[in-house]
Parts: sequence; structure tokens; C-alpha cells
Amino acid sequence: MTILETRNLIKRFGGVHAVDHLSIEVEKGRINGIIGPNGSGKTTLINLLSGMLAMDGGEIIIDDVQKFTQMFPHQVFFYGIARTFQNVRLFEQMTVLDNILVILTKRNVFSSLFEKHTEYHLKKAEEVLQRVDLWKKKNQLAINLSYGQRKLLEIARALVTDAEIYLLDESFTGLFPEMRKIVSNIICELKQENKTVILIEHDMGLIRELCDYIFVMNEGKLLVEGKPNYVLEGKEVIEAYLGK
Ligand SMILES: Nc1ncnc2c1ncn2[C@@H]1O[C@H](COP(=O)(O)OP(=O)(O)O)[C@@H](O)[C@H]1O
Ligand SMILES: [Mg+2]
Repeated sequence: MTILETRNLIKRFGGVHAVDHLSIEVEKGRINGIIGPNGSGKTTLINLLSGMLAMDGGEIIIDDVQKFTQMFPHQVFFYGIARTFQNVRLFEQMTVLDNILVILTKRNVFSSLFEKHTEYHLKKAEEVLQRVDLWKKKNQLAINLSYGQRKLLEIARALVTDAEIYLLDESFTGLFPEMRKIVSNIICELKQENKTVILIEHDMGLIRELCDYIFVMNEGKLLVEGKPNYVLEGKEVIEAYLGK
């Protein structure tokens, strides 16, 4: 089943065609890799899918029926899309724990059982922080975390939204091996839960290991798509990365 689709999606910055008539179909429950050289439009695509940027043309279709010529952040949340940023964005002056709680409580802001939910939220927050090995840092300010810990906290913030689709922009970049293991385990667990992952990643070893399907972008366009073995051996990909 197709959970997310773009049709002729367009985004321009001045004369730059960052995303240029891009049409892709993303299957539910799959780990999807997006690869392509720097500047090929990968982050812009994620920004369009998560309502951070206005589209210049085309459509985004969710669950086969919901068509958008513009996505807004509240719709993105409503339809269960969560993302992380290539350049991490956290509430810097809040603790690790509060960075999680603020998302959990926002979701249940109309709840009348506030006391009970606080306990419930704390339990959920502990669960997710244990998962990324940050529970022991729960009282530190986000700004004082290491680079890798900040990336893990951002992933935890995406996880607590309990989204259907996770857009991960270079989540492995700059991580130590043990942190990379945590992230790849989380991605595999999401797949086991039948969630959909879209992963931008430059490490082709990781792409081959994790992804069920790959989209290759070049100059805003879809260059080629398919299973890792097929795509990564193809001459299109080698040419895109190394030049013709
Ligand atoms: N906010 C922006 N303003 C102007 N140009 C941008 C902006 N964001 C991206 N671009 C340009 O759009 C193209 C695609 O960028 P990006 O989506 O970041 O590529 P990637 O993530 O694949 O490296 C690049 O040429 C980049 O310089
Ligand atoms: Mg990018």
C-alpha cells in the first residue's frame, strides 16, 4: 500500500530547481533510502513533506486519498509525519526530559485527567530516553549534550509523537559506532511496527544494510529507484556521484 506519494513536486529557489517535477511513491512499512550528491534536493524534499517549505507546484498525497498542494505543520502532525533535522533543532535551554515532555503534553493538552497523564507522560518519556540511552542525562540542558547525544535526543522527540512516517535527515552523520547501532536498531524496530521510514544517508553500507528500497536524486530529479542491489550497482548512481 502506498502511504505517501509526490506528483510532479516542484520547489525553486531563485533560478535553482531544488526539487524538479519529482514523482515518487512510498510503500507503507518499508525503510526507504534517499541518496544523491550534495545539493541534489534531498533536504528540500523532506522540508516539503514536513510542511516546512511551501511547494511551487505538484501534489503530495497521503494514504492514497488526501491530496495537498500545500502541507501545513498541523496537517503534518495530524497525518502522523515526524522528522529530524540535518542541523539538529532542540529547545536548547530546556532539560533533556523537558524536551520530550513538551511534545507529549502538547499532544494531550485537552486532557481532563492531567494528574494521571503527567505520570503517564513521565513513563513514556523514560521509555523513549532509555531507548536512546539518554535517561541518565535527563536533567542536563540540551545545549550541554554532545553532538551525537543531541542527534539521539532529536530522534527520541520524533519517536514520542508515535508517527506513522519518519523522515530522518542524515541521522547517522557524526555518530560514534555505539550510537549508530542505537539508531539502526530503532529504524529496524520501526519497520517491525509496520511504520514507514524515509532516510537520507550518505553511507552506502548503511543504505544497503537497512533499506528495502532506494530513491536516487540528482539536480532535483528522480534519477533511478529500486532495490538496493539493483540501484547501487547501476551506472546512473556511479555517474551521479563521480561525474560522467
Ligand atoms: N533555503 C534555501 N535558499 C536557497 N537555496 C536553497 C535553500 N535550501 C536549499 N537550497 C538549494 O537547493 C538545492 C538543494 O539543496 P538541498 O535540498 O539542501 O540538497 P541536499 O540535501 O540533497 O544536499 C541546492 O542547490 C541548495 O543550495
Ligand atoms: Mg541535505
